Parts: sequence; C-alpha cells; structure tokens
Amino acid sequence: MADFTDSPFCRLIRECGGRAVIFREMLAAEAIVRGNARTISYLDFDAIERPLVQQLFGSNPESMAKAAEVVMQKSKPDGIDINMGCPVYKAVSNFNGASLMREPNKAAAILSALKSTHNVPFSVKTRLGWSKPDEVIEFAQILEQAGADALEIHARTKLQGYSGQADWKAVKKVVDKVKIPVLVNGDIVDPKSALKALEESGAQGILIGRGALGNPWIFNRVEKVLAGKPDPGEPNLEDRLKGLKRHAELQIEAYGEKGLVKLRKHFPWYFKGIPGFRQFRAAAVQVASLDDLDRLIKTIIESARQSQ
Ligand SMILES: Cc1cc2nc3c(=O)[nH]c(=O)nc-3n(C[C@H](O)[C@H](O)[C@H](O)COP(=O)(O)O)c2cc1C
Repeated sequence: MADFTDSPFCRLIRECGGRAVIFREMLAAEAIVRGNARTISYLDFDAIERPLVQQLFGSNPESMAKAAEVVMQKSKPDGIDINMGCPVYKAVSNFNGASLMREPNKAAAILSALKSTHNVPFSVKTRLGWSKPDEVIEFAQILEQAGADALEIHARTKLQGYSGQADWKAVKKVVDKVKIPVLVNGDIVDPKSALKALEESGAQGILIGRGALGNPWIFNRVEKVLAGKPDPGEPNLEDRLKGLKRHAELQIEAYGEKGLVKLRKHFPWYFKGIPGFRQFRAAAVQVASLDDLDRLIKTIIESARQSQ
C-alpha cells in the first residue's frame, strides 16, 4: 500500500507473528528505469520481511521488463506483482493501473515482457472491472494465457473506487474460469470476514489492505484461525500503543528522527476507536521524538483509565 507498507511496517508485521506473503507498495517502473534514487531506495528491505512481493506499475512493456531487471538485481523479491487496478487519476491518465483493464492486449504484452526476464512468480492485482463487475472474467483469462502466476482481485470496479461493499461472490466467477491461484481482496478486516470472503469467493487466498493499518496483528490472528487454532483476539489498548511505540522505533532505525514525522499518517489508524481520541489529535500531529510519543501514549492510557 502506497506510503504505508514500507520496511519498518513490514518488519513490525513479522514481529507481531504474521507469516503471510507481504506485498510491498507499488513503484513506478519508469522511475526505476531512470534510476530515481528515492524510488530505488524503496526497494530496500530486511530479510525478515520475506516472503515478499514487489509491486510495479507502468504501461510500457519494455520499461516494465527493464524495471523488473533492476528490482531483481537490487533486492531479489520472491515475486513481482503488476498493478492493474489502481483507480487514481495519476495512474489511469498515464494508461497504467486500472486503465490496463481496458487494454487487455497491452496488459498481456506487459506480462509477456516480464516473464521473459526472470523466473520468479509474476502476479497481477486488478479489480472486478472498469464499470461492470463481470469484466474481470475475460480479462483474467487473458492474463492467465499471457503467463500470470496468480491474480489478486479487489472486489469492486474502478468506477466504484472504494464505495459500497466488496462483492466477494463476483470473484467466484473468475475462480471458476482460471487454473491459477486467485486471492480475494476488499473489506477483509478480521478472521470472520476472512473466512466469509474465502467461502463466498472460493478463492485460494486473501489479500488484506486497510485492515492491516494500525493493526499489524491481523495477519497472526487470521493465520491462526485459518489453521484451525483459537483467535488470539484484538490487542487491548496498552498492547496497541506498545505496538505503535515499536513501530516508531523501527521508523527511527530506518529513517532517523524524521521517521516519526513519516509515522504520523499511521496515527489515525492506531487510534481508531479509542474513545475521546479527538482531544489528543493536536498533540499527535506534533510528535517529533520518542519522548513526545511516550507522553502522548501515557496521556491516552491515563484518560482511558479515568473514563472506565
Ligand atoms: C492508502 C492506500 C494505499 C494503497 N496502495 C496500493 C498499492 O500500492 N498497490 C495496490 O495494488 N493497491 C493499493 N491500495 C489498494 C489496496 O491494496 C486494496 O486493494 C484496497 O484498499 C481494498 O482492500 P482493503 O479493503 O483490504 O483495504 C491502496 C489502498 C489504500 C487505502
């Protein structure tokens, strides 16, 4: 997830017991080919983050193949994923992301070009369609023929954006048509929704997005339940804030003090549902050191105790 699933967050997921394959945020193939230092720095990862898949976006098969070469030389992820589902204007106006659903020949050419580079799995992340939820059925078959090793489907159309409910049942129509593994995505936020999404879609796996933000424990919980073990449950407030503190330490390790400024976008996710959090918002956006964060955490815990 762009701006979120960087190395510190992925390390934290591992420390919280999650063993799932991690998909790192999408990177622009063109920027990698140009040697853009900032984009290239996003390829760094710690061995503990494996198994890990690097996602790329772009619309030019040649640049995508060149970018894959750089990625394999630099970080050797366990797989490469291609974004064919991002609905934002910046992506679709450049004919990548979700707009590739409307250009299946180009999408297939991208896959073929990538497949000729390295022998790692190449997967595609897409949606149910541009405007209709059954468009993905034909698109998925074209991708499979072009060599896709797996598909992840966000169960909404491009035009839906993030509105409405993810339609897990619509993914079943793809699962029934292709032989490659399909992962269902959208609105999976806990073990219960994970089980339901798997049941309704018949998919071989799930992909969790926003449900992991401020909640790096989710993978361990879902993995346990899928393995038939008891649900460890949601962490309590103190454990949640301990997780945030650990996230902050990992941010500092990776980025120095400015790591805490970069961490601020995670705060609303960690604080979601804490009663009365609004009153701490001003302090939260000013956190610039671990001491500031400690003070904020203490105040939140005190306030929660008093309101009990
Ligand atoms: C902040 C944010 C960043 C995202 N970045 C990416 C990305 O880099 N690549 C991608 O394939 N999808 C990205 N997505 C979409 C999610 O992967 C996912 O498909 C979508 O949020 C629906 O699943 P969810 O309900 O589990 O979040 C992003 C979503 C959000 C909210």
